[in-house]
Amino acid sequence: MVIKISKKNQIGVLTINRPDSLNAMNREVLLEFINKLKKLQSEKDIRVIIITGSGEKAFIAGADIKLMQKMNRGEAFEFANLGQELANLIEKSDKPVIAAVNGYALGGGCEIALSCHLRIASDNAVFAQPEVKIGLLPGWGGTQRLPRIIGRGLANEIILTGRNVLAKEALDIGLVNKVVPQEELINTCFDIANMVIKNSPNAIAESIKLVRFAAGTNLEKGLYKEAKLFSELFETEETAEGLTAFVEKRPPKF
Ligand code: CAA
Repeated sequence: MVIKISKKNQIGVLTINRPDSLNAMNREVLLEFINKLKKLQSEKDIRVIIITGSGEKAFIAGADIKLMQKMNRGEAFEFANLGQELANLIEKSDKPVIAAVNGYALGGGCEIALSCHLRIASDNAVFAQPEVKIGLLPGWGGTQRLPRIIGRGLANEIILTGRNVLAKEALDIGLVNKVVPQEELINTCFDIANMVIKNSPNAIAESIKLVRFAAGTNLEKGLYKEAKLFSELFETEETAEGLTAFVEKRPPKF
């Protein structure tokens, strides 16, 4: 077992603990990650999920290169699909997922961070899509999600050079939401999670859906869907509670 789960105040933390390989992910790690994430997502009392790596050096140093060295085309296709399944599961989660990037987020590690709804980095974090250096290309969503987050020009530069993006630059180009000293990383993620938890879970889930939808549609369709989901909230008890609480000048109970 290399994925540890801990829970505190409706926040679930998934920690990848494979220090010998700087938390690089092979098939077993991906499968365990998918299973444990699904479990946390299905738990009613969990409202926000944080993903991080064990130790102070690496978030995830990518897909396991030693494993890939022995793969044939069919196995590589399955491996890419498995990594993409995990990234999709994160991105489509109704419960916000925060990447607490505590060090190297390289290749597949950067791609897992890209699929999270928020990325908070420690000041020693290093991002890269270095796949071309070893004759590969990003296979867990990097070519698709990176340009959507930082724009096509920069994404091309980062993917084609394979260069490192340090925490400060990651913040400057909008790759991460915040950079904090390493010792403050988890608490900062908890602070953000605690702010999210005060809000309506339904409204959060639908907002996540809409922001994701925006990446693959035109403005007209996006606005239509926004108005539709906005109006559907009016049939929920949560929204009634939120509106009533404001009018009654009291905090809502979600
Ligand atoms: N896969 C397998 N093992 C890895 C690994 C990876 N992605 N990254 C690090 N390791 C292993 C190293 O092989 C080493 O193991 P041994 O002691 O058995 O040799 C151990 O972790 C420690 O690593 P280093 O000795 O290299 O540590 P360092 O501090 O000198 O360097 C590093 C750290 C810069 C992260 C370096 O390990 C490195 O460049 N790792 C590879 C990063 C990379 O290229 N990731 C992308 C992989 S491809 C991919 O992810 C494809 C995709 O899109 C799905």
